[in-house]
Amino acid sequence: MASNTFRIGGDLAVGRLGFGAMRLPTEPGPARETSVAVARRAVELGVTLVDTAHLYGGGANEELLAEALHPYAEGLLVTTKVGVARTGPGGEWKLDARPGILRDQVENALTRLRVERLELLQLHRIDPETPLADQLGTLRELQDEGKVGRLGLSEISVEELGLARELIDVVSVQNRYSLLDREHEPVLAACEAAGIAFLPWRPVAVAVPGAAAEIDAVAAELGATAAQVALAWLLGHSPVVLPIPGTARMAHLEENVAARDLRLTRDQRDRLDTLAIPGRSPEERD
Ligand SMILES: NC(=O)c1ccc[n+]([C@@H]2O[C@H](COP(=O)([O-])OP(=O)(O)OC[C@H]3O[C@@H](n4cnc5c(N)ncnc54)[C@H](OP(=O)(O)O)[C@@H]3O)[C@@H](O)[C@H]2O)c1
Repeated sequence: MASNTFRIGGDLAVGRLGFGAMRLPTEPGPARETSVAVARRAVELGVTLVDTAHLYGGGANEELLAEALHPYAEGLLVTTKVGVARTGPGGEWKLDARPGILRDQVENALTRLRVERLELLQLHRIDPETPLADQLGTLRELQDEGKVGRLGLSEISVEELGLARELIDVVSVQNRYSLLDREHEPVLAACEAAGIAFLPWRPVAVAVPGAAAEIDAVAAELGATAAQVALAWLLGHSPVVLPIPGTARMAHLEENVAARDLRLTRDQRDRLDTLAIPGRSPEERD
């Protein structure tokens, strides 16, 4: 049976079922209070991996997590992402991983998250307009300066992973992936081969009741929900998978965390495996 913990970069131990904070509203006041309560409950339930990004509210989501969780519990990893920026005050968000932007966003994340070091920092997207060596070189410098512990990437191909690994030590990859959306199966396989953590984003949104009769059938057999089946499938699919489901609702949080203990039988797994053809997104399926 796959372990419930994973050591990111070989040394940073986290529970494999994480929490994505992107959908936690930071305003108005009552919604913020609920968000704070949901984030705290996640940690209370044993979640030790929480994902955020500069992009989520331009740092507001990082501030919310610090308000909710600082001082951080022993072993809690709050990981953030940089590399998407506004074109100017109030301007559009666009991929921007120029060295100065990455440095600014890291400095701001350190302040907003109230830490001296970001144990895991992920590049939100490779910026096609900035040389890869400049983007990753800046992240490596930040690592050498002690401001960043480990580095990860997001929404990358197998080829990009290979190129990046020539420049930095990649310890995590965050790509869109789920039971019904297996376009990035080759990236997951590459991560598994290299012992790199794979954090699938959008892990449950696709698995709403009615999305696939087979998921609903397995859920009924187990007395579970479709979202729980989707998460249990991910956890059992590969030992390097660390799903980061997100929700703003306490009930959904508790439901998602409980999926840690759900075990699919071999037969159920086989039936679910056939739902998505590796390498093709749901839109492309017949
Ligand atoms: N690297 C990237 O480019 C990238 C992109 C997007 C997201 N992310 C990260 O990945 C995390 C997860 O991605 P995501 O939020 O797009 O997708 P997700 O976690 O698969 O789905 C979240 C959606 O599903 C609903 N939901 C959650 N649990 C549920 C349950 N048990 N039953 C029914 N509905 C449920 C939520 O609504 P309710 O609030 O109503 O529960 C929300 O609308 C984000 O929080 C973020 O940290 C990364």
